[in-house]
Amino acid sequence: MNAYESRPLLYLSRQHDAALCRFLTQQGWKLLFARSREELDRLPLSHQPMAGLWDLHNGFDEDDLDAYEPWFGLGHIGWVGLVSSLDSVPAGPRRLLGMHFADYHTQPCDMEAVARSLGHAFGMAHLRHANASTAGLRSSAPHGMIGRCDAMQDLFRAIGKVAKWDAPVLIAGESGSGKELAAQAIHSASRRGSGPFVAVNCAAIPPTLLLSELFGYERGAFTGALKRKPGRIEMAHGGTLFLDEIGDMPLESQTSLLRFLETGRIERLGGTESISIDARIVSATHVDLEAAVAAERFRSDLYHRLCVLRVKQPPLRERDGDIILLAEHILNDIRKQSPDRIKGFSPAAIRAINAHSWPGNVRELLNRIRHAAAMCENGVVNPADLDLEPPAETRPLTLAEIREAAELHAIKAALQRHHERLIDVAEELGISRVTLFRMMREHRLQVRKGELGMVCLQG
Ligand SMILES: Nc1ncnc2c1ncn2[C@@H]1O[C@H](COP(=O)(O)OP(=O)(O)O)[C@@H](O)[C@H]1O
Ligand SMILES: [Mg+2]
Repeated sequence: MNAYESRPLLYLSRQHDAALCRFLTQQGWKLLFARSREELDRLPLSHQPMAGLWDLHNGFDEDDLDAYEPWFGLGHIGWVGLVSSLDSVPAGPRRLLGMHFADYHTQPCDMEAVARSLGHAFGMAHLRHANASTAGLRSSAPHGMIGRCDAMQDLFRAIGKVAKWDAPVLIAGESGSGKELAAQAIHSASRRGSGPFVAVNCAAIPPTLLLSELFGYERGAFTGALKRKPGRIEMAHGGTLFLDEIGDMPLESQTSLLRFLETGRIERLGGTESISIDARIVSATHVDLEAAVAAERFRSDLYHRLCVLRVKQPPLRERDGDIILLAEHILNDIRKQSPDRIKGFSPAAIRAINAHSWPGNVRELLNRIRHAAAMCENGVVNPADLDLEPPAETRPLTLAEIREAAELHAIKAALQRHHERLIDVAEELGISRVTLFRMMREHRLQVRKGELGMVCLQG
């Protein structure tokens, strides 16, 4: 079905304008009505893209603003506002208009213009929805890893490449950044994918037990060894052995591990039989292994054996745009199991999430959102539920500032499209070259010197 065949429109107003309703219906919009926040909450809405029309002209309850806010932040609804005049709109709703709305119209409105804006808003909502679903499907992302930013795309490519080889891989990255997930992804995509994936956390097992965990033991090898037990290396035969937090491995175990890596054979503790094991080693560390080698806490020969291939896991704070994507994904998962209706993050929560530095990475994000989902009221997650500082209140932009930003954006984009050929830029923007020069000077835009037809502006 063509996505534009049925265009749902959510019309939020105390008093619906009958003439406008008729006109919009004729234009192919399928109208859903809500007169209050309660009615809005009761609507049987799917997550399909739709347009939204918020009528501030016919009055609304300012006390309800906090409850409306999450609705305006929803990516799959493209909003347009109806106001009496912009001056009559109080600061709170004006901020919302500026932040979340594709457009607004003053009453009495030009119905065709409103329909056009709704069309644009719907188109953008459709686009956001399609992007979100692609991320949700994670078609290119291995093993359920979420990430659209450049850093994660680089990681996915690196995972794809190292998966083709059978050499040891070292994954470096901060705690909670997803190293184990990356290790599983490498395993799944490798020729060993159908074999076992055995993880050993070298930091979590007491040093005295690590050797027996890794190599196993024979009956009677030590007091308490009542029967033979195969070690983790043996269990990984035919698959991948994931050595997590390898930087914390005691030197004694390092020596035994090195012997296995060199010979491909192990002996169980207390045993004499030498067993050949075919396992690929993927290891991970949050510590700087080179520094550990320099400090003689880590054997340099083992280090070189382990990091034939290297993968760097980016910390969450460097994943531009992905933090919210991950947060929404996590909340969506929780939503499915939640006894209460969870609507989403308030815009303040989204700003707080973006402003936080995430020292605990994805694990911290998971924990904060799980906590917040349980603590939030009315289904809206606020900064306090996440235990995050509320972000500094941003002043709503003035009309002049909005216009100036739009002007700068339009000029820059046109310059890029026309390879900085000013005659074409001026023509496209519908202004004279003199006006273009003046505007560029005001915006401190310079054009690179050199090519014919280009001008260099100083200043
Ligand atoms: N890109 C990602 N997409 C989805 N979930 C992730 C991602 N990265 C990490 N996680 C989740 O975050 C948690 C911590 O990841 P983990 O791989 O254990 O981190 P590390 O091994 O680096 O400490 C896990 O629950 C994991 O599923
Ligand atoms: Mg880990």
